[in-house]
Amino acid sequence: MDKEKNKPAALLDQQPEPDQFRMEVLDGLSRKRKTLPCKYFYDERGSKLFDAICELEEYYLTRTELAIMEDHAAAMAERIGPACVLIELGSGSSIKTRILLSHLDHPAMYVPVDISREHLLQSVKALEKLFPSVPIQPVCADFNDTFELPNTDGIKGKFVIYFPGSTIGNLEPAQAVDFLQHLVDLKGHVDGMLIGVDLKKDREFLEPAYNDSQQVTAAFNLNLLVRINRELGADFQVDQFRHFATYNEQRGCMEIFLISEREQTVRVADQTVGFQPGERILTERSYKYSLADFSRLATAVGAQVDAVWTDPEEMFSLQYLTLPV
Ligand code: TRP
Repeated sequence: MDKEKNKPAALLDQQPEPDQFRMEVLDGLSRKRKTLPCKYFYDERGSKLFDAICELEEYYLTRTELAIMEDHAAAMAERIGPACVLIELGSGSSIKTRILLSHLDHPAMYVPVDISREHLLQSVKALEKLFPSVPIQPVCADFNDTFELPNTDGIKGKFVIYFPGSTIGNLEPAQAVDFLQHLVDLKGHVDGMLIGVDLKKDREFLEPAYNDSQQVTAAFNLNLLVRINRELGADFQVDQFRHFATYNEQRGCMEIFLISEREQTVRVADQTVGFQPGERILTERSYKYSLADFSRLATAVGAQVDAVWTDPEEMFSLQYLTLPV
């Protein structure tokens, strides 16, 4: 089948090379404390499993963020103003975006950026039907790297980054500062950033969100090994690893691991990786911020928190950051 056919002319394809995947995996597995990069969770099956996580009773994040959007999208749109360019990082299924787009005043362009090409194209198709008057210009890229934006000549509205889902929490706080700085520099002039930030709360709420009773999160985490087997010709015995998630109080983050059930060796690409019984691979951290913590982060890049919207229980927040002109 001609794959190019279902690719809209608009797609800016900057998907990372398979080589980069191999290098990052081998680098992470050769460390004393093994890690795997969390952005590779999102192959086709991973993206679907993540959508299923977002619907879980225990995963309060998506539900709460959606409710905040429903209640406050009009106020958000008000701050953003007319004819904006909305750039969404890690757009996935773009469900929250629908609420925002339906409140924005004649957006000039919507630019979803996602590493997962097929998933991106599918959600663009759905959005084009819902918002026929909004020009959509998808970019397939790893938003952690520098990526090119589509041509926006002649657009007079604000440039606003939309970064929902608390994905910013998946960066180490120092990396989050660098990342925000990179966004600030991206277009020479980004006017605003609307960021979803999960807030500090008790471990009794946090741990089940990453350890659901139906084991969807476990399947999502283990799927990373399935992907490495398939794409890098590795021989992980997936049933010899288990999912584990715990709140690290000192760091203020959830830590998600794959734990080796026994002593074993695994071939990955052209290398051999040994595991001790109980040895962990850190696959993701998810930092939780207090409002004060996050405000400090914004200040570090010369931005300020212009508005914060939360749910009544202050579980989750959407924060609008602006830069002084
Ligand atoms: N950004 C999401 C979060 O930090 C990603 C996520 C949710 C996740 N559940 C997970 C990552 C389980 C790894 C394992 O909440």
